[in-house]
Amino acid sequence: MRDPMSLARRDEPMARHTTFRFGGPADYFVEPRNADELALALDTCREQRLETFPLGMGSNLLVRDAGVRGAVIYLGGLEPGRMTREGRKVVASAGVKLPKLLRFACDQGLAGLEALIGIPGTVGGAVVMNAGGRYGTIGEFVTCVHALDRSGAAVRIGGAEAGFGNRTSNLGPYLVTAVELELPPGEPPVLAARAQAILAEKKKSQPLSAKSAGCVFKNPPGQSAGRLIDEAGLKGHAVGGAMVSHKHANFIVNRGDARAADVLELIELIRERVRSRFQIALELEVKVW
Ligand code: EPU
Repeated sequence: MRDPMSLARRDEPMARHTTFRFGGPADYFVEPRNADELALALDTCREQRLETFPLGMGSNLLVRDAGVRGAVIYLGGLEPGRMTREGRKVVASAGVKLPKLLRFACDQGLAGLEALIGIPGTVGGAVVMNAGGRYGTIGEFVTCVHALDRSGAAVRIGGAEAGFGNRTSNLGPYLVTAVELELPPGEPPVLAARAQAILAEKKKSQPLSAKSAGCVFKNPPGQSAGRLIDEAGLKGHAVGGAMVSHKHANFIVNRGDARAADVLELIELIRERVRSRFQIALELEVKVW
């Protein structure tokens, strides 16, 4: 077996691996192709006392300008083509892209995932953060998660044990390698039409083609973070290259030359305004490295 650490890239710019398109270098950048290589990489990192940072598509991630001290482990290379179906059950490798899984399920006449259209990410990343929106989340359909713990030991976690909540799960300590889902049946043309309708609605209200990390803050209970930021008058407000989207106030977009520091400053400004205006503390949805 190839030793993935021997192929690790040094000082890899994280701007290449995040949808925000900024972020400093990672000391090491490793791309295991399967669970065995992943276990080997974890082993080596432990021996060398390198902190590990699991990465999917980088679509919900803010990497600081100073970069990452340790090893980023890119999980989008984990068998990115492996999807199988048996009855209502679908098994997908963690490296499969979410849009690809969605298309596969729709074509196979399996429903539910069309609610996730327009979300960029890997299946592994989507499960760890319980990706979704108004029409549903991936966690609702997960029956089993296959993962490695940080020591490289294989574990299986049942859907009920995964603790899926509002953009969260208790899978954070693990590295997901594959996911089993159970999906209700549906008619492929009906599912495709539903996906297109949801996407059209999203395109109207979200800056989907901008460089962003999606929604920056979680919705506070019973509230909409986007509406609060909008009502605080912050649409279009900019710090350096970072700006609150005109289309949806819970998106911060990189206008081209944003640094992480710009976005972090804008995040603090938004929190401060929303706190003083509505006495509500906004919690970050995006992950910061
Ligand atoms: N609103 C405003 N101004 C804005 C944005 C929104 O007034 O700038 C209002 C809308 O008019 C609406 C309400 O706020 O009445 C809620 O907005 P929206 O329907 O856009 O949904 P959201 O709660 O802001 C959530 C998810 C999105 C997901 C959408 C659609 C969170 C934090 N956000 O947004 O998820 O795409 O529903 O399903 O849960 C993400 O996780 O990255 C994300 C974008």
